[in-house]
Amino acid sequence: MSNNLKIAILGTGNMGGALLGGILKAGVVSKDDVIATVKTEEKANTLRDKYGCTVLSGGNRTAAQQASVIVLATKPHIVPKVVDEIRDTLRPDQILVSLAAALPLSVIEKRLPHPMPVFRAMPNIPVVVEEGAIAICSNTQAQPEHQILVDRIFRAVGVVCTVEEDMMDAVTALSGSGPAYVYMVIEAFIAGGVKMGLSREISTRLAEQTVLGAAKHVRQSLAHPAVLRDEVTTPGGTTIVAIHELERHGLRSMLISAIETATKHAKERSQVLARKLDQA
Ligand SMILES: NC(=O)c1ccc[n+]([C@@H]2O[C@H](COP(=O)([O-])OP(=O)(O)OC[C@H]3O[C@@H](n4cnc5c(N)ncnc54)[C@H](OP(=O)(O)O)[C@@H]3O)[C@@H](O)[C@H]2O)c1
Repeated sequence: MSNNLKIAILGTGNMGGALLGGILKAGVVSKDDVIATVKTEEKANTLRDKYGCTVLSGGNRTAAQQASVIVLATKPHIVPKVVDEIRDTLRPDQILVSLAAALPLSVIEKRLPHPMPVFRAMPNIPVVVEEGAIAICSNTQAQPEHQILVDRIFRAVGVVCTVEEDMMDAVTALSGSGPAYVYMVIEAFIAGGVKMGLSREISTRLAEQTVLGAAKHVRQSLAHPAVLRDEVTTPGGTTIVAIHELERHGLRSMLISAIETATKHAKERSQVLARKLDQA
């Protein structure tokens, strides 16, 4: 644990709360070295009771002043307002990390009083079970030591990858929205099991563990998924019959198209948001 690391999470809702819980659980910082903010006193009380750290309602400037790493975790359209609010408290040695989906780094950089390291992180919802997929990009002020620190924070809630900013829309489409696609797959597995006479409970356990186990096998074997698929496909067996059916309905092509379409949508949304906030 770094002695100087102090983290402020400005906007501790679903995502900020998951990050707060994860970094405390992993011991990235102690509860004395993290300060969270929210909008309402009611939410502040709930978080204080849950995590035992300092939680302020409306205290963004106080929190930012005390931190070495400031995480911007409000909804995207609020982030520029929060940056404007804390602007004159910012020091060049601090690190800013935005979680705001679709919000380009340039929107934040334009509002800063001086150059400083700024990161943009795209987490996904499994951060709530510390199994998130988190992609991170940064501005030109960010140095390797800043990257190491930011990686450490996010490793508390999942797996971290570094990408260039122009890949963030693809990240949004793949891992950001990806849990929704996998939930649909699990839902359909359950329905298939139920249709064939398995109880809903047993179908659910088998479906969720099949997805979890297959993902773990891909990771630990380091093999291409197609190799693993071939290994379980007996000639003339049940699996090849099902695979043929999936191919007939274009499973892989459908998922590739979904990610392509979602990437285009994310890019357009990002451009619209940047234009709107730049004019504000
Ligand atoms: N949820 C996801 O799956 C996901 C995935 C990737 C990225 N993100 C990004 O994560 C960010 C947060 O999303 P979320 O789903 O966690 O939103 P959320 O649950 O609505 O949380 C937003 C939090 O911001 C607080 N807030 C609002 N205005 C504030 C202000 N002026 N100062 C300080 N705090 C303020 C709210 O406080 P109150 O609770 O008191 O109202 C709330 O706790 C977004 O930018 C989003 O794009 C989310």
